[in-house]
Amino acid sequence: MSKPQLLIDTDPGVDDALAILMAHAHADVAGLSVAAGNVGLGHTVRNALTLVDLLAAPTPVFAGCPTPLVRLPEEDAAFVHGKDGLGDVGYPEPKALASDEQAALALLRLTRERPGELTLVALAPLTNLALALRLDPSLPGRVARLVVMGGAVTGLGNTGKVPAEFNVGFDPEAAQVVFEAFPQFDLVDWEATLRHAFDESEFDDWLARGDHRARFFGKVFQTARSFNAKNERRGVIAADALAMAVAIDPDIITRSENRHVAVELDGRLTRGATVVDWAGRLGRPANARIVLEVDQPRFAAMVRKALGAEK
Ligand code: BDR
Ligand code: CA
Repeated sequence: MSKPQLLIDTDPGVDDALAILMAHAHADVAGLSVAAGNVGLGHTVRNALTLVDLLAAPTPVFAGCPTPLVRLPEEDAAFVHGKDGLGDVGYPEPKALASDEQAALALLRLTRERPGELTLVALAPLTNLALALRLDPSLPGRVARLVVMGGAVTGLGNTGKVPAEFNVGFDPEAAQVVFEAFPQFDLVDWEATLRHAFDESEFDDWLARGDHRARFFGKVFQTARSFNAKNERRGVIAADALAMAVAIDPDIITRSENRHVAVELDGRLTRGATVVDWAGRLGRPANARIVLEVDQPRFAAMVRKALGAEK
């Protein structure tokens, strides 16, 4: 079977790092377009290059927009991922260099060069995708699929704003531009992520058995792991890895619902919430396949392979 062909928008980020390891283990990667999010753009670009070095991959890295489209962010996620976004391990300056091409322009160019071939995997605030869409609204017609890690479809969320998930809450306008422009996308939300956490000791076993990728991930994961433990987030939570599993193999989905999803842009308490029309009241076509369950053993096997720990 031919490998999936992926174009990844990302803000590495610890769980982005795991997703990028998975992508390179299971798919061909046309490029990493990089957003600001978990930490500032300088760090996220550098972290993407560190990953490219680790993997000795020829994957091009494109720096994107340093801020959300409209409002400056109130919070990033350095308190989870470390100040540098990769657990403050202190990796040296990467050898790989970022391309001169702006991320939004690279998304447009690569999808023009390979119409219908690439699955777009959005693991970050959707700023770069929104900019690309505003420049060229025909973008959705040129991608094979769009998979988004974002949203909190039952309102739990993981940010200071009660019902918002980080990627959507960081740049709600961008998320709304993307959700309105794509007639159909797969949505892997925060709540699905919590249902698909890995058992801690099982995951430690993979880290112990794996290769240089497992050693890298074991180090960068420490800060996020302590944060999760202190905040009673149980298990190894890997949001972007779950979305990547869905991007690599859509057959991994075992339960989903097709619904219309939009983003609250105002709201006294709800800016950045993903609003799902569960009862079909709006009469608008379902734009999102909301991923509710995946085959967990298959997801685990994909992660093990990415860490070099598959028996
Ligand atoms: C998402 O937000 C970021 O902190 C993670 O990298 C992931 O993409 C989870 O809400
Ligand atoms: Ca991310």
